[in-house]
Amino acid sequence: MSVKMQVAVLGSGGREHAIAWKLNQSSRIDKIFSIPGNGGTSNNILLDIMDFKSIAEFCRSAKIDVLVVGPEAPLAAGITDYMVQAGIRVFGPNRQAARLESSKVFAKQFMKKHGVASAAFTEISCADKASEGRMKDFFLKEDGCVIKYDGLAGGKGVYVCDSPVEVKKVVGEICQKYGSQARIIIEEKLYGDEISLLAFVDGRNYHLLQPSQDHKQIYDNDRGPNTGGMGAFCPVPDLSERLWKRIIEDTVEPTLRGIHEEGIVYRGVLYFGLMITAQGPRVLEYNVRLGDPEAQVVLPALKTDLLDIITACIEGELSSLQLEFNPGYFADIVMAMAGYPGKYEKDRLISGLQSYPGLVFHAGTRMEKGSYLTAGGRVLNVVGQGENLSEAVNAAYQGVKKISFPGQYYRKDIGNRLNPVIKSFV
Ligand code: AMP
Ligand code: GLY
Repeated sequence: MSVKMQVAVLGSGGREHAIAWKLNQSSRIDKIFSIPGNGGTSNNILLDIMDFKSIAEFCRSAKIDVLVVGPEAPLAAGITDYMVQAGIRVFGPNRQAARLESSKVFAKQFMKKHGVASAAFTEISCADKASEGRMKDFFLKEDGCVIKYDGLAGGKGVYVCDSPVEVKKVVGEICQKYGSQARIIIEEKLYGDEISLLAFVDGRNYHLLQPSQDHKQIYDNDRGPNTGGMGAFCPVPDLSERLWKRIIEDTVEPTLRGIHEEGIVYRGVLYFGLMITAQGPRVLEYNVRLGDPEAQVVLPALKTDLLDIITACIEGELSSLQLEFNPGYFADIVMAMAGYPGKYEKDRLISGLQSYPGLVFHAGTRMEKGSYLTAGGRVLNVVGQGENLSEAVNAAYQGVKKISFPGQYYRKDIGNRLNPVIKSFV
C-alpha cells in the first residue's frame, strides 16, 4: 500500500478552490491545506502567498509532500526555485520558465524565434525617441494595434488602440506609470474567436486539457472593462479536427520545442491564450498556471486523478499517463459584487448555498461563525454540467438563482458565444 500524501495549495481564488476540490478526490491524499484559502476551502493557513520563508517553514513543519502553486505572482518571483532549494517538492514552473508570462517582450521574442504563430510586433521604449516613428509606421501597416506593458499587470497591461493618437496617449501613460525604463510591445490587432488551451508539462512531454472559453469583460456582449474573468465553459463546441491539428502544429508543438531548445526546464501548467483567426490560430499570450475561471470548468471535466498528473509532471513521467475526460459540457458563472472590477463593498451575507446540489467554487468569501460572507470582487463560481453546452449553462444559472447576497452581479450571457471563425474551420 502506498503512503498517503499531504498537499498544500497556494492561493485564495476560485481556481485554487477547484484545485483543492479535484485533489480531494485522490485516494492517495491524506490532507489538503490551503494557503491562505477562502471561505470554501478547509485547513486554511493564513500566510501571505509572497512570504516564501514562512510558506517553506509551514511545509516543513506540516510535512507537506507537494506544494501546488495557483497564481502567477509567486511563480514569477521564483517560489519554485526557492522551495527546491529548501528541499520542498513544488508544482509550478521556475522563475526562468515563468518569464513566458511575466515578460511580454521575452514571450514575443520567444514566439518569433521558434516559429510560434502569433501577432506581428515591434518593441518600443519610453526613452528612445526613434520609437515614435516606428510606432507610427507600425500602426499604418496594421488594421488597429494592441499595446502591452512588459511586466505583470494583473490583466491591466493590455490596451487595444484604434488610432495613432490613441497609441501615443497609451504609451505616454505607461511611461508615466512604470517609468522611462518600461519596455512596451506594440503588436498587430488580431480578429477572431478567443480560446484558452491548458497543458500539463513535465519538462519534455505534455498533455492537453479540454479547450475552454473565458468571458473577460464585465458586461454582457463583451462590453465594459476587463476583469479577471466572469465565466467560462468547456469544451469548445464545433472545434473541428482540422482546426485542432492546426492549433497543435502551429502553436503547441513549436512552443514546446522552443522551451526545450532554450534549455528551459518547464514543469507545471502552460496556458495558451489563442486567437482563432481566419488565417489560423495565433498565440496572444502564455500564462504559466491554470486560468481562472478556466480551471473551474476544465478540472471538473478531467477524470484522471490530479495528484497522479502533478507527480508525473514533477518526476518527468507524464508520458506514462493518459488523460481521461468526463463526458459532456461544464459551465461556470461568476457571481461578483456590484462595482467590481472597480470599488465594491464587502462583508455581505451569502445565502442559499445549500440549496444548489451542483458545484460551487468559492473565490472572494470568508467564513465567520458558521456563515459565509463576501470578501472580494469575484465572490462565487457556480458550475453546471450537461450533455450539451446549453444544458450546462442552464444548470449553472439555476444554481445562481438559488444563491444570493446583497449587491450581487453576474453576466447573463455566459456560453452564448457565436464563434463564427471557429465554425468556419470545417
Ligand atoms: P493578453 O494579456 O496578452 O492575453 O491580453 C489580454 C486580452 O487582450 C486578450 O485576452 C485579448 O482579448 C486581447 N488581446 C491581446 N492581444 C491581442 C491582439 N494582438 N489582438 C487582439 N486582441 C488582443
Ligand atoms: N482567465 C484568464 C487568466 O487566467 O489569465
